[in-house]
Amino acid sequence: MSGNNLTRTLAVLGPYLWPRGRNDLRWRVIIALVSLALAKFANVYVPLLLGATVDRLSSLETTPNLAFGIPLAIILAYGFARWSSTAFGELRDALFSRVSQNAVRQVALSVFQHVHSLSLRFHLDRKTGALNRFIDRGTKGIQFLLSFVVFNLLPTIVEIFLVCGILWYMFGVQYALVTSVTIGVYVWLTFSITAWRIRIRRQMNEADNEASTRSVDSLLNFETVKYFNNEEHEGRRIDTALRAYETGAAKSRESLALLNVAQAAAVTSGILIMLIMAALNIRDGTITLGGFVVINAYLLQLSMPLNFLGTVYREIQQSLVDMENMFSLLDEEQEIQDLPGALPIEIRDGAVEFYNVTFSYQADRVILKHISFTVESSKTVAIVGPTGSGKSTISRLLFRFYEATDGNIRIDGQDISQVTQDSVRQAIGVVPQDTVLFNDTIYYNIRYARPDAPAEAVYEAARTARIHEFITSLPEGYETRVGERGLKLSGGEKQRVAIARTVLKNPKIFFFDEATSALDSNTESEIQTNLEEISKDRTTLIIAHRLSTVVRADQILVLDQGTIIERGTHQQLLANGGKYARMWKEQEKENSDRTEMAPPVTS
Ligand SMILES: Nc1ncnc2c1ncn2[C@@H]1O[C@H](COP(=O)(O)OP(=O)(O)OP(=O)(O)O)[C@@H](O)[C@H]1O
Ligand SMILES: [Mg+2]
Repeated sequence: MSGNNLTRTLAVLGPYLWPRGRNDLRWRVIIALVSLALAKFANVYVPLLLGATVDRLSSLETTPNLAFGIPLAIILAYGFARWSSTAFGELRDALFSRVSQNAVRQVALSVFQHVHSLSLRFHLDRKTGALNRFIDRGTKGIQFLLSFVVFNLLPTIVEIFLVCGILWYMFGVQYALVTSVTIGVYVWLTFSITAWRIRIRRQMNEADNEASTRSVDSLLNFETVKYFNNEEHEGRRIDTALRAYETGAAKSRESLALLNVAQAAAVTSGILIMLIMAALNIRDGTITLGGFVVINAYLLQLSMPLNFLGTVYREIQQSLVDMENMFSLLDEEQEIQDLPGALPIEIRDGAVEFYNVTFSYQADRVILKHISFTVESSKTVAIVGPTGSGKSTISRLLFRFYEATDGNIRIDGQDISQVTQDSVRQAIGVVPQDTVLFNDTIYYNIRYARPDAPAEAVYEAARTARIHEFITSLPEGYETRVGERGLKLSGGEKQRVAIARTVLKNPKIFFFDEATSALDSNTESEIQTNLEEISKDRTTLIIAHRLSTVVRADQILVLDQGTIIERGTHQQLLANGGKYARMWKEQEKENSDRTEMAPPVTS
């Protein structure tokens, strides 16, 4: 088990034990520590008081007319000490819980924020189910480590030394020796068995991640599962992972039994040896009956925290394993980072320029090859081309989800890789090809663009996107919930919500990626009129398959296999008689075929 992991964990958690700027929490830490000391003190005193009681009572037996008040007082003190030990222990835990919960919250929050700051590439590769489990287990681990290392591990070690000292002082060095050897054997056993159990724990975690990943993925694909009647297949898939977990968990429990039995053997042998020693000493008259009781009580009392120590050690190791995954998330580097000292971009007219841009997602497959084009301020440029030619990739590069492999992308003459990502993203409104909505109300989803926007602005944006009337016709209007990922809306409704929220964002640059592909031609042309209205003084990029929607663009780029093979206005391209002209003819033909055969269909 890496010591690295432990130091790392302590470095992360340490500051939370003494939270900066949180005097309330600091007070709690202090009082919890004082309670801890008082509880331990009372605890160490209990056997001594018990021994004293026994001695008093046995002398009472021989001389019955001795005052009864003293043993009674000791009995009461014994009771009080026992109670205080519990009470202070509880006080300590109750007070400290806020401190550890605060740590849990802060760490969970920072992991969450970090995950959000990671690149699109990471998120496309990730497995949501596993990600959730990482954070879940990791934060549980924190809570455990904080309270147990501070309040159980260290104090128990102190207590062991204290008891050894008392035994030595009261009954001779041999008792302290036997105690130390017993503890030594105990600790050795614990460490070696635990090292083996940790491996089992890792396997369990992996199986757990896998099960969670598969179950989340399967539930997200609920419809697909039904379309192909694959419920059983899904069941089998998840069962393999669950089985692995089951085996791991059972093995873990078995190994725990072994550990417990071994630990108990060590402790019991120690106690037996000491009790025999004490019995011999009583026979010789070097120890009183009370002494015997004290020894027995101390040993029993020690065996409890010792057992505890075993558990704690095991749990600490487990927590560290659990936190590995979470730390691996924190170690994930942000792929797209602002340069040191980067300034926000200064948006003036919103002119966009791609200069000789080459890009590949993976090293061995180039997606965009030496792409150059400019979109002057307030102009509209359309990108058309076959599927997979790299159109959406252009929007991802402009939004800086990825860094261009070569070449530059400039907005108003400023290279977007030299300024802050935030400011670039602020300036661009993207309606993506596949819209996914939050599982909340329509109102929430539109207003997401500007959470402080007044209701009227939200309605206005919805009107521009031609969806206001539809929304108000719903029984619950804007308060209608859209379901997971927005699946309770039709494809076209979802797209219009997406347009509305981008309109509400009110950016200097619009990027519509097939933003109206799911709409019928009537609605599409209505929206288009509205969009042309608002994008009059905006720079606009449009990706479209249906060429009729790009006819009025100032320039059309025809992209094919990552290169721009033609560019010009609709008229120029038609006159050229190239690929665009062919595509146009195709679509014309399809349209007339369709109108002959049946009423217009959405594409
Ligand atoms: N994250 C990714 N990792 C690897 N390859 C990718 C990734 N995203 C897209 N690609 C590949 O890059 C190519 C271009 O994708 P892009 O999404 O830009 O196509 P497109 O022109 O928008 O196509 P469509 O018209 O179908 O939307 C595709 O062949 C695709 O498989
Ligand atoms: Mg695309």
